[in-house]
Amino acid sequence: MRRTPATLPPGSTLGIVGGGQLGRMISQAASRLGFDVVILEPEPDSPAGRVSARQITAAYDDPDALGELGRLCPVVTFEFENVPAASLERLAAAGARVAPGPRALAVAQDRMEEKTFLNGAGAPTVDFVAVDDLSDLQHGLERLGLPAVLKTRREGYDGKGQAWIRSADDIAPAFEAMAGRPAVLEAAAPFVRELSVIAARSDDGRTAVYPLGENVHSGGVLAVTTAPALASDAVQRRARAIAEAVLEGLDYVGVVGIELFDLSADDGEAVLLVNEIAPRVHNTGHWTQDGCVCDQFEQHVRAVMGWPLGPTEAHARVEMTNLLGDAVEQWRDLAAKDDVRLHLYGKAEARPGRKMAHVNRVLGPI
Ligand SMILES: Nc1ncnc2c1ncn2[C@@H]1O[C@H](COP(=O)(O)OP(=O)(O)O)[C@@H](O)[C@H]1O
Ligand SMILES: [Mg+2]
Repeated sequence: MRRTPATLPPGSTLGIVGGGQLGRMISQAASRLGFDVVILEPEPDSPAGRVSARQITAAYDDPDALGELGRLCPVVTFEFENVPAASLERLAAAGARVAPGPRALAVAQDRMEEKTFLNGAGAPTVDFVAVDDLSDLQHGLERLGLPAVLKTRREGYDGKGQAWIRSADDIAPAFEAMAGRPAVLEAAAPFVRELSVIAARSDDGRTAVYPLGENVHSGGVLAVTTAPALASDAVQRRARAIAEAVLEGLDYVGVVGIELFDLSADDGEAVLLVNEIAPRVHNTGHWTQDGCVCDQFEQHVRAVMGWPLGPTEAHARVEMTNLLGDAVEQWRDLAAKDDVRLHLYGKAEARPGRKMAHVNRVLGPI
């Protein structure tokens, strides 16, 4: 079988499973470093496919397509975490190095596995209970109290597959909302704000951690990230320690996004809980495109292609705003402003809530 060298030179081909905006921005960064990119995506003419050398249009679990991608690309990565384990095996069998690896994906795919891993790695989470039936839910609520949030173990994103339980009346509807899928009940985190840390690890175990982002969600979807977040040294040190523990614990290669609940008191010690980890570039890291010399997309390409990691210091403070649905129609006004950079994803249809673009407003130098 072909062996992938540790460092891939320019001219090599990178495979990306997934054709959305994250794949598009990874592809753009890869092409700037001289790589060719092949996308695997079932939707024809995808946002990522349109800026790449090629798109293989097939399902993420299509054996022939995975075999082809693995033969064409010495390295294959992902823009989303719900890739079946069997797909990873097929890519590896076709000779591709898959980064991040199967363990990172398996852990991030299942909220129970994820929380169990995190607590074991010294990165605490809220208290949680597995819920497979109504009696698990009732016992869980006795233990965790109200309010609590019930989430499907797998395949939730942008607040989907979640139901808050604030009173006894919410119990039955929340359970029904899981539609028979295995779930996890989480205690509510009494956070003062939400933060996230974007970090990377290379094959040789080096790590690079970006400054914290402060995130505001609306209806379960990220609305705005401001970064670098104003945070005490203690909070910054704690976030870095969490990021390093996650990267080491998963023997991770590539960029990871780690969502944090900040429970720190104004004058007290740093208290951070991990909400969830995303084994990929992350929406809360888009600010790095206009705040850092090496953004998260280039950093990911560097890590998976075996290049040295790039610098992570911020040179500017940035406010990143997602443009959902028809908010993208503001593009003309935004393009006329001189303190924003527009990042449009090339999606034809502005369905309500769909991530169409983001803008980075440069607030000023650091
Ligand atoms: N246990 C919790 N306590 C408080 N807020 C929560 C909790 N779980 C989720 N949230 C809120 O809901 C948002 C989305 O939840 P998350 O688990 O990150 O789901 P998704 O996978 O959809 O991003 C979080 O960013 C946070 O604002
Ligand atoms: Mg989240």
